Amino acid sequence: MLTQEQKFELLIEGVVAKGYAVCDDFLEPHEVENLLSTFTKRYQSGKFREASIGKQSEAHKAALIRGDEILWLETNSIDVAERMLLNKNQAFVDYLNQTCYLGIVDTEIHFAKYDIGKFYRRHRDTFQAQKGRILSVIYYLNPNWIPENGGNLIIYTSENGIEKGIVIEPLAGRLVCFESEKLEHEVSEAFAERFSVTGWLLNRG
Ligand code: OGA
Ligand code: MN
Repeated sequence: MLTQEQKFELLIEGVVAKGYAVCDDFLEPHEVENLLSTFTKRYQSGKFREASIGKQSEAHKAALIRGDEILWLETNSIDVAERMLLNKNQAFVDYLNQTCYLGIVDTEIHFAKYDIGKFYRRHRDTFQAQKGRILSVIYYLNPNWIPENGGNLIIYTSENGIEKGIVIEPLAGRLVCFESEKLEHEVSEAFAERFSVTGWLLNRG
């Protein structure tokens, strides 16, 4: 079992070497469970919205590109599970700032739910924010996920000019981190409900 600091180091090494990194068991099973129950409570409150692709007027077009429903987290939340996640994410931000001088000054984080049949076509995480998105972080909350459920994150990288898609399953407890503006990626069609928390670490832009 790695310490939190070892997990941060593993993530940083991956991002430096390849632009992305995967850390399994970043969240413990009970943390995933608690987050999922808060997620469900929030979802049932009816506050989730269909995600957009930047331009408000083109909401109908967004559905052809992405089908997830999202809810932004309040950074001052007092919900225990949300606090745990926000604190862990902030610990990572602090570590990045101290060791890599990234100048991360803010974060934006949302819950995301993909229903059966939903996907997010190939894109980069650049639009929308006023501040610059440096790193994307995605926490997966899907216990008992099987390959038949689809819903993979596919990150496109190229080696010696040859493109390849790295397939990453959205397994419970897993954290994926990648350079927001650099790497194109997509979420393949989900054949089971898919739950995650996505965040962006922002500099001054
Ligand atoms: C996104 C995104 C990937 C995933 O929300 O921008 O690319 O695996 N999510 O959920
Ligand atoms: Mn994305």
